[in-house]
Amino acid sequence: MLKGYFKFLSVTVFSLVSLFLLSSCATTGNHKVLYFAHSLPTSHPVHKGILAMQESLHSKSDGNLQLKIFPDGQLGSEREALELLQIGSIAMTKVSASALSNFAPEYQITVIPYLFRDSEHLFNNLEGEVGQQLLEGGTEYLLRGICFYDAGARSFYTKDRPVHSPSDLDGLKVRVQNDQMSVDMANTLGASATPMAFGELYTALQQNVVDGAENNIPSFVSSNHFEVCKYYIFDEHTMVPDVVIIGTKFWDLLSDQEKGWLEAAAQESVVKQKQYWAETVAENMKMLKEAGVEFIYPDKAPFVSKSKPVMERLMKDSKLRPIIDKINSN
Ligand code: GCU
Repeated sequence: MLKGYFKFLSVTVFSLVSLFLLSSCATTGNHKVLYFAHSLPTSHPVHKGILAMQESLHSKSDGNLQLKIFPDGQLGSEREALELLQIGSIAMTKVSASALSNFAPEYQITVIPYLFRDSEHLFNNLEGEVGQQLLEGGTEYLLRGICFYDAGARSFYTKDRPVHSPSDLDGLKVRVQNDQMSVDMANTLGASATPMAFGELYTALQQNVVDGAENNIPSFVSSNHFEVCKYYIFDEHTMVPDVVIIGTKFWDLLSDQEKGWLEAAAQESVVKQKQYWAETVAENMKMLKEAGVEFIYPDKAPFVSKSKPVMERLMKDSKLRPIIDKINSN
């Protein structure tokens, strides 16, 4: 009963937010303001990248095109933000490529375990033809990609059980992102995948709804999950990037000059965001050691071989296979 009430309340709030935004997103005076929602806390290096984009856009356009940022899931989960973009209630968002794969299936390839060899291989692809294809491909689903941000590598972390090999994941309830690929990845590695929104995870860990999760270091820290999880296991199973998206409903309303400002501001922020990322990881690692979190560096070979079927399954898709082949041959 209470659950139903909250659901009603959140749907109502969601609709009210949509109405409010719909009426306030357009041109104010002689400048345009693009509403930008995302789910990460303000201490996160990805939020800092978005702030850099905001500042650069302001100076390039002389204040004629501005971003108004709603961080921390204020306007809902990543899925909800993408829906708000599709209906044209807000202009922009930043989500994980995993969340996007529910809308634009090509993004599924970014969730294949051990597809990218390292950060250089990842960005050579994302900033080359493959990335361009993914960003532009979203247009078909009303979600145009603007740029990719560094989201490092995702690894498992657990409350009580040290994990040294995939067999240690057996029976472990692990929170994953809300998409089929993430569920498949964790289940194939032997865990029991439990999809849920990022914002619900702290409480779920605290209340033993799940035994662990998987994410990069800055998200593990800025969400305070390290307070409840004793082990961080550097198996680095995926390198799922973050993606900045603009809804085509807003993109199509921008002049060529405005599009140019936005793209240039995004490119500048990409360079800065990578620096913020590296600095934050270094600081966070130091802090985690002091906080007593145990780092485990397992042999990755058994994780690589156990997760192979995930890629094999995706290779059966005739649209995805050429993209995967291209990445593997780069
Ligand atoms: C990363 C990513 C977020 C995502 C989160 C998650 O932190 O940057 O966009 O929401 O993972 O696991 O849900």
